[in-house]
Amino acid sequence: MRILAIETSCDETAAAVVEDGRVVHSSVVSSQVDTHARFGGVVPEVAGRAHLELLTPVVEEALAAGDTKPAGLAAVAATVGPGLIGSLLVGVSAAKAYSLAWGVPFVGVNHLEGHLHAAFIEDPDLALPAVVLLVSGGHTMLIHMLSDGRYRLLGQTIDDAAGEAFDKVARYLGLGYPGGPAIDRLAREGDAAAIAFPRGLRGEGYDFSFSGLKTSVVNHVNRHPEVATPDVAASFQEAVVDVLVEKTRRAAAHVGARSICIGGGVAANSALRERITSAAHADGRAAFVPSRAMCTDNAAMMGATAWYRLRKDGPTPLDAAADPNLRLPFEN
Ligand code: KG4
Ligand code: ZN
Repeated sequence: MRILAIETSCDETAAAVVEDGRVVHSSVVSSQVDTHARFGGVVPEVAGRAHLELLTPVVEEALAAGDTKPAGLAAVAATVGPGLIGSLLVGVSAAKAYSLAWGVPFVGVNHLEGHLHAAFIEDPDLALPAVVLLVSGGHTMLIHMLSDGRYRLLGQTIDDAAGEAFDKVARYLGLGYPGGPAIDRLAREGDAAAIAFPRGLRGEGYDFSFSGLKTSVVNHVNRHPEVATPDVAASFQEAVVDVLVEKTRRAAAHVGARSICIGGGVAANSALRERITSAAHADGRAAFVPSRAMCTDNAAMMGATAWYRLRKDGPTPLDAAADPNLRLPFEN
C-alpha cells in the first residue's frame, strides 16, 4: 500500500512515497532556508508563497524518484497541523485536489505524530513503552508512548521551545539562521564548562523552561563583550542538553520505559545525540536516535503516520480543515 505524503507545515516543502508505513521509496525535501535566512527567521507569508511554487515540482519528483504512478497510490496524505496556517493550507489543498483527481482517499496527519513515527521507519523493532523527547523549533515535549497511537504527555516547555532558544541565541550571537546547526558547529571549538548558565526547572518535574537561559546568555555577553563566542555556544548548548537528558532519563525510569527515543529538529544536535545514547545505555535502556534527515521536517515520517492513521481511523473527510494549533491525541 503506497501513500504519497505532503508536508508543508513550516519552511520545508516535502513529499514522499512510503509503502506500508515503513518502506520509503522516495523522500524529497526542498528547504526554504536560504529564502528566509536574510530575514533571520521564517516569514510566514513568504513561506506560503514558496510552498505554492515548489509543491508541484516536489510532488512530481517524489513520484518519479519513487517509481510510482498516481494509479499505484492507495492514498494521498498531508500534514494538517500544527504549523503556519498559510503553509499548511498549500499542502492540504493540494493533497485534497490530488485525492479528488486520482480517486484515492485523503488522509490528514498531525505533524507531531509524524515526528513520533519517524524513529519507527528506521527501527521498526523499537521496544515500547518508550519515552520520546520531541524537540523542534516549535515544541519541546516529553511523551510516554505506551503503544502505537497511545500517548501521554509527561512534560513540555512553559516558555520557549528548545529549537527556538537555539535560534534566538544564535541570532543574538550573529550566527545567522537557522541557529541550531550553527551553534552545534561552533560549540565543537568551545569549552562547554566555560560559563555556568542556568538549568531551568532542573530537578522539578518534567516541564522545561528556556527563556531564562536565553536572557542569561544575553546578559553574560553584554557584561563580558570579550568572551569567546565558541565558549558561549558550547556552554549554552551544554545547559540545554543537560536538562533535556536529565529529564528524559528520569522520566524513562519513572514510567519504566524500555527505550528512549528523540525526534524533531533539535534531535539533530550532536551533543544531544551522544549524551542521550550514553545515558540510556548506562541505565540499561535501548536508545534510538534517528538519522538527522529523519529528525528534521520531512514527508516520509508523515507517510508512515498516514498509513497507521488510515488503517485505524479510515480516510479523512475532504471538508476537514487545517488546524495551526492541532494537538496530539493525548490520553491525559
Ligand atoms: O523539526 P524542525 O525541522 O521544524 C519544526 O517543526 O520546528 O526543527 C527545526 C528546529 C530549528 O529551531 C533548528 O534551529 C533546530 O531544529 N535544529 C537544531 C539542529 N538542527 C536543527 N538545533 C540544535 N542543533 C542542531 N544540529
Ligand atoms: Zn517538525
